[in-house]
Amino acid sequence: MIITNSTEHMQELTAIVRKNKTIGFVPTMGALHQGHLSLVKLAMERCDFTVVSIFVNPKQFNNPEDFKNYPRTQEADTNLLSEVGVNLVFIPSEKEIYPAPDTRVFDFGETGNVMEGLHRPGHFNGVAQVVTRLFNIVNPTMAFFGEKDFQQLAIIKLLVDQIDLPIQIVSCPIVREYDGLAMSSRNRLLNNNQRMHVPLIARTLFEAKEKMEYVGVTDLSKWVKDTIDADPELKTEYAEIVNAKTLQPIITWDDANNIQLCVAVHANTIRLIDNIRLK
Ligand code: PAF
Repeated sequence: MIITNSTEHMQELTAIVRKNKTIGFVPTMGALHQGHLSLVKLAMERCDFTVVSIFVNPKQFNNPEDFKNYPRTQEADTNLLSEVGVNLVFIPSEKEIYPAPDTRVFDFGETGNVMEGLHRPGHFNGVAQVVTRLFNIVNPTMAFFGEKDFQQLAIIKLLVDQIDLPIQIVSCPIVREYDGLAMSSRNRLLNNNQRMHVPLIARTLFEAKEKMEYVGVTDLSKWVKDTIDADPELKTEYAEIVNAKTLQPIITWDDANNIQLCVAVHANTIRLIDNIRLK
């Protein structure tokens, strides 16, 4: 496994590989877990050559404390990637990714203005800045993103369409812990007590799916919020039932063919997101 910090080196290597191989790319911010590894394994199955990037992108954090506290476990990450057989790992510095200030402004219309877009101003612009930059450096055939970041996935698909990039975006199912908790790098920031409470988030989503047959949309999203908020360790930021394609809120179950329930929940300062397909 080759590890490089240099954009120039990456571009040289991927240009050679691209001549006769497909490249599968998994962009990450590190603190890798089985969720990331499921993306890596799929990339390895679907492509000839697999590239993983590890870069905690400051531009997508709307809260400086969150950026500062984001877990960084580079040595463990590279060990894991080498064990699974990744070909190339890119671990750039901020200067390598942003040699000059990135002032680009992206517009994802209404898809970018709800849920994460609404509650984390500038977040998706930062994601788009780094992802376009990484795509440009890696030049992948396919790029793999997890469905836990459901809105991010929709935004990346929009981005690729908007700027007409010849990259296939592959979505990968959420990987959960034994008790349902969606795997996330942020889970390792939870203390023991919080860790005992957070599985309620996934349990509530699973139960909501069972309930939708008997309850209207507004009542169900209220029930989700109330159920999670009844736990003194948890506070819902949003619980939205949306059209899975446009991410716009729906009012009745007939408003869309595919419907997603998405939540963001705080366990004190740790913010977790999760979602489930209802229909
Ligand atoms: O999902 C993430 O880890 C990040 O948002 C990404 C796609 C690596 C961009 O920094």
